[in-house]
This record gives sequence, structure tokens and C-alpha cells, in this order.
Amino acid sequence: MGNLCSNLSERETADKKPASAPSTVPINRPVFEKNPQYVSEEGRTFLAHYNALDADGKQASRVYTLPSDDVEIDRLHLQHYLLRFEYQSNFCAPVRSRLEKPAAKILDVGCGSGIWAMEMATDFPLAQVYGIDLAPVQPSSIKPKNLEFATVDITNLPLPYEDATFDFVRMRFLVLGIKAEHWQSIVNELGRITKPGGYVELCEPNINFVGAPTLDMFTGMFQSILQARGADPNSYQKIHQYLSTSPYLSTPSQDNRRMPYRPTETSSPDQIKLSKLVRDDWRMGLSGFKPIIVAKKIATPEQFDEWLEQCAREMWEIGYMAEVRTCWAMRK
Ligand SMILES: C[S@@+](CC[C@H](N)C(=O)[O-])C[C@H]1O[C@@H](n2cnc3c(N)ncnc32)[C@H](O)[C@@H]1O
Repeated sequence: MGNLCSNLSERETADKKPASAPSTVPINRPVFEKNPQYVSEEGRTFLAHYNALDADGKQASRVYTLPSDDVEIDRLHLQHYLLRFEYQSNFCAPVRSRLEKPAAKILDVGCGSGIWAMEMATDFPLAQVYGIDLAPVQPSSIKPKNLEFATVDITNLPLPYEDATFDFVRMRFLVLGIKAEHWQSIVNELGRITKPGGYVELCEPNINFVGAPTLDMFTGMFQSILQARGADPNSYQKIHQYLSTSPYLSTPSQDNRRMPYRPTETSSPDQIKLSKLVRDDWRMGLSGFKPIIVAKKIATPEQFDEWLEQCAREMWEIGYMAEVRTCWAMRK
């Protein structure tokens, strides 16, 4: 599981050396002008340049709102296993045979903990895998040899890769990290760096948790925070459109999943476990908003916890279904 302390000390060592670029894919520029700084609030740690705690009412410089700490890394691992279990695969695009060939290249955009990239590097040992993220929280030494991580802000276009570099470019759960007006240009960019015949795959959750009074209120509150930062809470509904509109990509395919928050009487043991993961992921994810909501004085810490409990009860009562959409398209 994530260990921010060891990652921090790895970073401190790494920061003394010039940034090393992947050997075959050039990273043209450093992304951070300074070393990343961290701030702590309500027991959670954020990258300071997220300006997550914009309590003074100033517009946040970056859109992403979630912490960058051990708890979040653990949640990202949990969420990864939940999705891998649901899909019984790490991807939907028909790209397996390409990835089995020597020198195939895979890019994970907004790779978070790096778990998907690590599994892909293990599953496709002949491929070279790259993971990029704003937060340098990925392991720098204990990882497969064919995997490299780099710190890249994906809103800073163009991305530091040549045209037609990758066989597979995948971006999952960036709904909180991309401004509405940047989505199309980022998806176009993912198309540009994909090889003809290769694939771009996007996966996003429906974060409209509605259907009961506290849930509606809570969702309205956190979505207005996202919107104030320029994020689009409905990006999952638009990923198919973004892929279709890209000049680089052919007609996309789509897969929709609905995962139960509460098991039913006929649920199998596996479905019961899956629903427990859905509940844990939801609770841990929403808890990440607590510092910003408390800092903005929208709620006290106690009130926030009470709302979260009530939302959890309501989701159980209404038999909430977590929705995830995956869309993929081939580079022309
Ligand atoms: C919810 S996590 C998803 C992580 C991973 N894709 C997964 O599915 O496990 C979102 C990730 O996007 C990263 N992120 C947010 N804004 C970003 C940006 N502008 N550039 C690069 N990464 C960003 C965050 O640091 C975080 O690791």
C-alpha cells in the first residue's frame, strides 16, 4: 500500500539529481519549477500547488481537490481492484495483441498510485510502460524495470511526447482534475501521441450521487465546489463525444457498468464483496473533500461526518448503483 513517507524520501534524493527522462520517449521540459510542497489540513495532505484549501475565496490555481497522501493512495488501490474485478480486465480496447509485441508503448495519464501501470508492465513484459501524474507519489525504485513514472501536468499542452508514440494511451478517473474547457483539447492530444492502429481509452465515474435528501444536498455542495474550480462533474457523460470529435480518432466504442452499493438477496459472494468495495471507495473518496469543506466553513468537521453517515444510510436505503463508463477509440 502507499507509503508517502518513503515516497517523500525517495523524492528528496531524486530532487537533488537532474530530472531523468524516459530513454525512448523524450520529456522536453521540467514540470515543476520548484520541488513540490505539501500542506496538511484536517489530518490530510495535499500538494500545495493544488491550492486545495482556497478558504480565502480566491480562485484555486488548479482544479484537482483530492489529497495526495497514504489514505488516498490506499483508496486508489482499492478502487483499482474494484474496477479490475468488475471488468475482469485492466482495459476494454482490443489492443492486447499489440501490447504483446516487443517495444510496444503504453501511457497511463493521471496514473495516481501507479498500480495500473505496474500491473500492465508485469502483464506485458515486452512493452515499455509510462505513468504520468501531477503528484509524484508513485514508487521510484520498487517497480517493474519496463515502467517509468514522470511528473507531468496534463493540462500543460502539448504533452512532452512525439506524435504517434504510444500503442495504448489510457486515462481513468480524471473528472476532478480537468477543467471543462480543457477536456476536448486533452483528448485530442491523447489521440495525437497514439500510433495509427493504437487505442485511446477513457474511463470516468458518474459522480451525481442523488436520490435522497441529504445525498442531494451533499452532492450539490461538492459539485458546486468542483464547478467553482472549473471542473465538469458530468464529464463521464461526454467522454464518448470527446473521442468522436477528436480529429485523430475513429468511431469510439462504449461500455457502461453499474455496481451495487448494497448487495441483494440473490447476490453471489463475489457481488457481496464488490458492493463492500463500492461503499468503501465512496466513503473514502468523499472524505477527501472534508478539508476543503471545513476550510470553506461550509460545515464543521462534526457536521461533515454526520452528513457522510446520513448519505451512506440513504444510499443503502435507495439501493444506489455506482456507474462507470469506459470508451475507447482507434487512432486513424
Ligand atoms: C482519482 S485519481 C485516479 C488515478 C488513476 N488514474 C486510477 O484510476 O487509479 C486522479 C489522479 O489525477 C491526477 N491529476 C489531477 N490533475 C492532474 C493534472 N492536471 N495533471 C496530471 N495528473 C493530474 C491526481 O494527482 C490523481 O493522481
